[in-house]
Amino acid sequence: MDLDRRRKPIRKAVIPVAGLGTRLLPITKSVPKELLPVVDVPAIQVVVEECVNAGIEEVIFITGRGKGGVEDHFDYNYELEQILQQRGKFEELERVRSISSLIRTIAVRQKKPLGLGHAVLCARDVVDNEPFVVLLPDDLISSEPSVTKQLIEVYEKYGQGVVSLMPVSDREVSRYGIVTGENWAPGLHRVRTIVEKPDPEITPSRLAVIGRYLLPPTIFDYLEGLEPDHTGEIQLTDGLARLARERALVGYEFSGRRHDIGDKLGFVTANVSYALRRPDMGPLLLEYLRRKVAEADADGQ
Ligand code: UTP
Repeated sequence: MDLDRRRKPIRKAVIPVAGLGTRLLPITKSVPKELLPVVDVPAIQVVVEECVNAGIEEVIFITGRGKGGVEDHFDYNYELEQILQQRGKFEELERVRSISSLIRTIAVRQKKPLGLGHAVLCARDVVDNEPFVVLLPDDLISSEPSVTKQLIEVYEKYGQGVVSLMPVSDREVSRYGIVTGENWAPGLHRVRTIVEKPDPEITPSRLAVIGRYLLPPTIFDYLEGLEPDHTGEIQLTDGLARLARERALVGYEFSGRRHDIGDKLGFVTANVSYALRRPDMGPLLLEYLRRKVAEADADGQ
């Protein structure tokens, strides 16, 4: 598996945010889903902090219509800072400023939502000829170390592209890209194929690709050669399948708890889960939840 011991460092992250977020309508009619809160922090900030903690130096947002707020969140807001300063709200001022200085950001416009594969391809000129990570901000994964860091560690060992994998139930396979391959070490697979959203009856496995990837720059050649699928979108899965076939691709079963916040229930459970871990509100929320469960039990629900 290991073809090259001289690794290029992973410095850049691509975060596609140009999708329409139809599963969360109507809120996403005017609010980018990436700015929806995880308690009091926009989801995109949680993902960008994951990049910073993994040693990434530059984040490339693939943006679309109405997504300007994502860039603004990481920019300085002088007017707000001035007012906070004047009012002596120094803690808030520090919080707001620290977001702006988190990391260097670049925005590339995807003029039409032509699919995740097309969104990643939009980053080609900025990424240039180096390996990079892709993070889908719908997927919030809490783990220590972060999944991005885990992928970088696998890459440093094996020198190949890596996708994050998670076992899903039979019922769920039709919502994911599902891999087949050989398991050669605990949690590590040589990926042979990826099937997009298979029927549960004919699924080749139950290992689903989740929204963290570490990709070599050759992925751009594979994506460029792809035709749109029947929905008119260029799928990242098809580019990954070619990479797996013609070069190599490692599947890595990460450890961590994942929430799909692009889905209504996932959005709510992510908020509950993150709030429960916060010392300022966790105990009170737990008390409230216990009360609700007791009430529901009493009602026989
Ligand atoms: P999803 O399909 O999960 O997001 O794409 P979506 O299209 O926004 O959501 P639904 O299914 O309509 O509710 C995964 C990621 O790829 C980005 C999305 O923003 C999301 O982060 N994406 C998708 C793009 O940047 N461009 C696209 O053309 C499609």
